[in-house]
Amino acid sequence: MPTPYAYFKKQIVPLSEAKISVVTHAFNYGTAVFEGIRGNWNEDDEQVYVFRLKEHYARLRKSCRIMRIDFPYSDEELYSLTTRIVEMSGYREDLYLRPLAYKSSEVLGVRLHDLEDDFLIFVQPFGPYLDPDKGARCCTSTWRRVEDTAIPARAKITGIYANSALAKTEANLNGFDEAIMLDERGHVSEGSGENIFVVQDDRIITPPPSSNILVGITRETVITLAREELGVETVERDVDRSELYTADECFMTGTAAHVTPVVELDHRPIGEGKPGPLTTRLSRIYFDVIRGKNPKYLHWCTPCYSKVKA
Ligand SMILES: Cc1ncc(COP(=O)(O)O)c(C=O)c1O
Repeated sequence: MPTPYAYFKKQIVPLSEAKISVVTHAFNYGTAVFEGIRGNWNEDDEQVYVFRLKEHYARLRKSCRIMRIDFPYSDEELYSLTTRIVEMSGYREDLYLRPLAYKSSEVLGVRLHDLEDDFLIFVQPFGPYLDPDKGARCCTSTWRRVEDTAIPARAKITGIYANSALAKTEANLNGFDEAIMLDERGHVSEGSGENIFVVQDDRIITPPPSSNILVGITRETVITLAREELGVETVERDVDRSELYTADECFMTGTAAHVTPVVELDHRPIGEGKPGPLTTRLSRIYFDVIRGKNPKYLHWCTPCYSKVKA
């Protein structure tokens, strides 16, 4: 029977024992930074492949710098802790890994300085988030994406997810699968937990980091796969809301959402109102890559189980 483990207070413990105090600074003020990493189960290899471990921890380091969180771990320590937790947990299914660096002092008072920092990792089974086969029906959110001048979106800060949660719940309660947020200038920014792309005349276009996006690792993966495998370059530039309405295809990317086609926005079908051909091709390539089935990209996949099938 698989049992989830966590790295917590410098030890590996069963997840059920990893508890913080209600007074913890990060819990009260959103002063933590985190990553969402997928572990993808490969039945043939009887292996969990963690996808782009290196890039996720590199982004976590940047988030820590922005939030003044001390992060005294070497890459090797981080990779080893992460794969050990997965191996000890023993799951034979898709997983989500949550490394989180946080202001751990049990003290009240809003600030970033003169506080202790700590770091934890936990693992959870995690299937599909949106439906990548059917695609997502989306709405333009009435909530704007937070600006770099308010809370920097390039850092994956827990507190910033109040913005995403407001948008996601509004969308879901109004009958949509996902919200697409605009930035304060009115340009398209991103989904509540996904980056967004449009396909127009066989070109791929996506908003730049200056549109207050989280610079997604799936985004970079898909840009690379489109270039290397399909010979299609991606242009990063401002995207208007109405461009989404008239696009040939539209899709979202994220660790949770994978590559999910957007088939409808604000009650308007995008393209033919079903997953488009380029999105479908990219998505097939992507799913093979993340499960360790494409030897060319195996360097993006870290195996966790030491006893692999011969
Ligand atoms: C707000 C937001 N944008 C974009 C993404 C996609 O980023 P990534 O592909 O690194 O998961 C995420 C998911 O982590 C997110 O939370």
